[in-house]
This record gives sequence, C-alpha cells and structure tokens, in this order.
Amino acid sequence: MISKVWFITGSSRGIGLEIAKAALTAGDRVVATARDRSSIPLPSDDRQLLMLDLDVTSPGQAETAAQAAVERFGQVDVLVNNAGYGQLGTFEEVAVEEIEAQFSTNVFGLFNVTRALLPVMRKQRRGRIFNLSSTAGIAGSPGASIYCASKFAVEGFSEALAAELEEFGIDVTIVEPGPFRTNFLDDRSVRHAAASIADYAQASARRKAAYDARNHSQGGDPANLASALLSLASSGDAPLRFAAGSPAVELVLKKAEGLLTEVTRFRELSVSTDWQ
Ligand SMILES: NC(=O)c1ccc[n+]([C@@H]2O[C@H](COP(=O)([O-])OP(=O)(O)OC[C@H]3O[C@@H](n4cnc5c(N)ncnc54)[C@H](OP(=O)(O)O)[C@@H]3O)[C@@H](O)[C@H]2O)c1
Repeated sequence: MISKVWFITGSSRGIGLEIAKAALTAGDRVVATARDRSSIPLPSDDRQLLMLDLDVTSPGQAETAAQAAVERFGQVDVLVNNAGYGQLGTFEEVAVEEIEAQFSTNVFGLFNVTRALLPVMRKQRRGRIFNLSSTAGIAGSPGASIYCASKFAVEGFSEALAAELEEFGIDVTIVEPGPFRTNFLDDRSVRHAAASIADYAQASARRKAAYDARNHSQGGDPANLASALLSLASSGDAPLRFAAGSPAVELVLKKAEGLLTEVTRFRELSVSTDWQ
C-alpha cells in the first residue's frame, strides 16, 4: 500500500494525537501540528514525521505550515481538522468575546487550515479531509448553544465543500464523535462561561456536575476512533458523515427519525406556502 501524508491539527493530545500515532504505526507520513510543537509527545522529526507550530486561528501560520509540509513530503493526502474545544454555558451567560474565541478556533480556524491546504490537494487532483464535528453538530443541547452553533457551522460548511470539491477528487468526511475519553472536559480544554445568571444557576450547576462526572470515563476510545479514520482514509467509499461511537449512532438515528416525522406531519401546511 502506498504511504499517505497526513496533516493533523491539534496533535498535542486527545483524538489528534491518537490519529498521528495510528498513521505513523501504519507506515504513513505525518505532519503533526500543535500550538506549541514541543507539546506533541511524539519522538523527534524523522523521515516519517514533521512537527510544526500551528495555532489554527492564524491564517499566516496555516500557510507557513502547509508550505513546510509540501517542502518536506511533496504532497498532502489527508487533512484532519481536529483542533477545537467546547465553550459551555447557556447563551445568555456566554460573553461575546467567548463566542468569538469559540468560532475563531472551531470554525475560522478550520477554514484557515482548509484554505491553506486546498491548493495543494487541487493540484494533486486527490485528497481527503476529515472535519471533526461532534454530536453537538447534529443535535442542539442546552448549556452548549455556542459549541453546538460552531459545530453546526462545521457541518454546513463541510457538506457544501464536499460538493464543491468532488470534481477534483477531494473527499470530505464529517466526523461526529459522542463522548470520547480525552482531555476535552478538563479545565485546560473546556471553557465555562465566566458570567453567571441566577435564573440559570441551578440548571448550570447540574450540567457541570454531569460533565465533571463523565470526565475521563467517557465510553469512546480515541485510539479506536483513530483506527476507524485510518480505515476510512483507505476506503473508496467513505461517507459524508461518520458517527463515532454508540451514543453518536443512536443520536443521529433519533435526529433523522425526528426530522422525518416532523416534516411529514406539517407537509400540508409547508407546501401551502408555494404560489397557488
Ligand atoms: N472528546 C470528545 O468527547 C469529543 C466529542 C465530540 C467532538 N470532539 C472534537 O474532537 C476534537 C478533538 O477533541 P479532543 O477530545 O481530542 O480534545 P482535547 O484532548 O482537549 O484536545 C484538543 C486539541 O485541540 C488543540 N487546540 C485547541 N485550540 C487550538 C488552536 N487554537 N490551535 C491549534 N490547536 C488547538 C489542543 O491543543 P493545545 O494542547 O495547544 O491546547 C489539543 O491538541 C475537537 O474538535 C472536539 O470538538 C471531541
């Protein structure tokens, strides 16, 4: 099998790190990027591995990293837009600055890196992009409205992008994990709204306790997710959406069934809005 070149954002830990490890073990070449390359717990650069600084909120760093990847390996076959975090808190409690920061990383950051790598993939007439969404990109949940909004943005963007890139042999897969056992819910990752509104206090405290209880006992194994993505990267028919883990599968099915039920129930009223 011909060795691929992977370009991964947020490789310092969690899902990004596991994907980097799995690709290296499979004999592929990896550009592992992180805000601080020295935080990536992988052996030093060698013929298979290039580690680079990349804060995805910087378009300039994304360009520089893309150029360095091509200079080193001559191609990029798989882009994994993985870097991200969760901004929690009810909408009214989350400050505008916190919302902007969430979108700068989860949405504009993903745009920056995709924009930097697409010319390379178009030139190759080949490529695969994995965009890390979440079950939060499929179904809205209370206390996570801003995180959900960012992941819904990733979903809509990715679906349209997939159609734009089809003619160039570039495939896009949206990855929708449920809860995976990473540092995602640790204080250094997840952010809770700085402000607090008394009306929401009880519900917010209940949700925070539930998140804390789930932290580091989530049912999803990031190493297994990495293996699944490696197998999709080698498959000729990877899906547009990939639900990762049992809770994600259940949630996507429930959402799809709910959409069908609702649109069918209101069909008559819906079509009544056409010019008669
Ligand atoms: N774990 C889950 O339950 C879960 C569920 C659904 C979706 N996801 C999604 O999966 C992706 C990975 O999450 P994870 O669980 O692996 O979380 P994690 O363990 O917290 O790792 C997050 C990674 O993103 C990086 N990152 C954050 N902001 C960045 C920025 N501005 N530029 C570059 N890198 C940045 C972090 O780097 P630093 O070390 O520099 O902070 C870290 O490497 C995220 O997009 C997340 O939304 C996770």
